[in-house]
Amino acid sequence: MSRNLFPFASRFSTGSSSCSMSIVVLSVVGCLLMLHLYSLVSQPYIQNKEIHAGMSSHPLLLKLEAVEEENIKMPRQRRHSPRSAKRKPRHTTTLIDEFLDESSPIRHIFFPDMKTAIDPNKDAGNDSLYYYPGKIWLDTEGNPIQAHGGGVLFDERSRTYYWYGEYKDGPTYHAHKRGAARVDIMGVGCYSSKDLWTWKNEGIVLAAEGKNETHDLHKLNVLERPKVIYNDKTGEYVMWMHIDNANYTKASVGVAVSDSPTGPFYYLYSKRPHGFDSRDMTIFKDDDGVAYIIYSSEDNSDLHIGPLTEDYLDVTSVMKRILVGKHREAPALFKHGGIYYMITSGCTGWAPNKALAHAAKSILGPWNTLGNPCIGGNEVVRFTTFFSQSTYVLPFPRLPGLFIFMADRWNPANLRDSRYVWLPLTVGGTANQRPLEYNFGSPLWSRVAIYWHKRWMLPDIWRKKK
Ligand SMILES: *[C@@H]1O[C@H](CO)[C@@H](O)[C@H](O)[C@H]1NC(C)=O
Ligand SMILES: *[C@@H]1O[C@H](CO)[C@@H](O)[C@H](O)[C@H]1NC(C)=O
Ligand SMILES: *[C@@H]1O[C@H](CO)[C@@H](O)[C@H](O)[C@H]1NC(C)=O
Repeated sequence: MSRNLFPFASRFSTGSSSCSMSIVVLSVVGCLLMLHLYSLVSQPYIQNKEIHAGMSSHPLLLKLEAVEEENIKMPRQRRHSPRSAKRKPRHTTTLIDEFLDESSPIRHIFFPDMKTAIDPNKDAGNDSLYYYPGKIWLDTEGNPIQAHGGGVLFDERSRTYYWYGEYKDGPTYHAHKRGAARVDIMGVGCYSSKDLWTWKNEGIVLAAEGKNETHDLHKLNVLERPKVIYNDKTGEYVMWMHIDNANYTKASVGVAVSDSPTGPFYYLYSKRPHGFDSRDMTIFKDDDGVAYIIYSSEDNSDLHIGPLTEDYLDVTSVMKRILVGKHREAPALFKHGGIYYMITSGCTGWAPNKALAHAAKSILGPWNTLGNPCIGGNEVVRFTTFFSQSTYVLPFPRLPGLFIFMADRWNPANLRDSRYVWLPLTVGGTANQRPLEYNFGSPLWSRVAIYWHKRWMLPDIWRKKK
């Protein structure tokens, strides 16, 4: 359980009349002084506050940080009749049930149809460059983008963004009765963009293997969460991904390389990193060029983190367990003001759950859990990470403090129709809530916030700064 940050305040607020006013005032002043002193020694707090102050002066960023409420009403016809309520008194239909129910009358709220698709080919007029989380997003050829569980690489050499993800444009089925919904491996899709809104399909850059049944990429296996980073020393683009069999018992990572961001990638091998099972995973390249792998392990109970070798093609012997026993997956790691941050989800299969933000001074830990970063929408929206699951957090090096939170709104009934939820994520200012685990001596972490918006766009200054 978390400790109270302001033990004095709560004691006085219980309203003891014997307590003289001057003691209260003195204590409050003392408290404030202590906090001030504390903030002075707490480096990340100061750094982020300054950056935040600088950014907040931009009105467009203020707009992104506006809290937008969402009123999703339960469909009337679905309310249980008194009779059925009697039969099943415990069962109440929730918005999450509606979300998971293919035949829900409010399905269009979670999965808007093709008519509302974001289409960069159409003269979108004032809608141009606007993100609509959850709507179908078309590429420049007019096809829905297939880059699920993905990540974005900014290629310095071509000054182009590349979005890699699972190409899932096939039928969804269950391999066996109890198996999870799946789509055969097709490969890793790649899309390129200069503006992060108009995406050109660069094709499948790592393709499934059709015939060889013992190959990791055989279509009946599993390939999830591909991520690509560039190795400055070798000049190679290195892809890491979760490789599994249909029943998720292989629990390995796979590695592929290419000398071009648009592939084709050459598949090297798979392994269990550090000898452990590895399911949801990501990789992160630090400012100093050292790359790390972060993966859910020990049956998803912990996350493991460790540096990759210099060529990024293997893990080293260094590995730390973090968020031990917390059962987190879908890690997305980023850095701001010298501090590492991570967004994770809970483990509930394809169903959405509550995100948590974590922070650490050293990437290998210890990591502190800050709480749910989601803001706006309504309680259910916040509790379900906007009905989606984290996959990547994209920084803007020249706009410190602003990130794009990338998430997947999975559609387990038809996985190829899963949607993308991109929202602004900001780091800065004082935390709005006490960290879940607070230890005296740990920094006063900055606030990590992901803001719900039905419709939003990146600030113009970002494009001008390019
Ligand atoms: C587009 O925006 C401009 C300026 O804000 C406005 O005058 C115009 O009516 C808008 N057009 C549409 C179709 O909404
Ligand atoms: C099938 O894949 C395995 C594992 O990658 C490989 O060792 C083997 O040579 C492949 N067989 C053929 C016929 O390509
Ligand atoms: C999982 O699948 C593999 C082959 O795909 C099989 O060898 C293994 O026995 C299966 N394990 C379980 C627990 O079903």
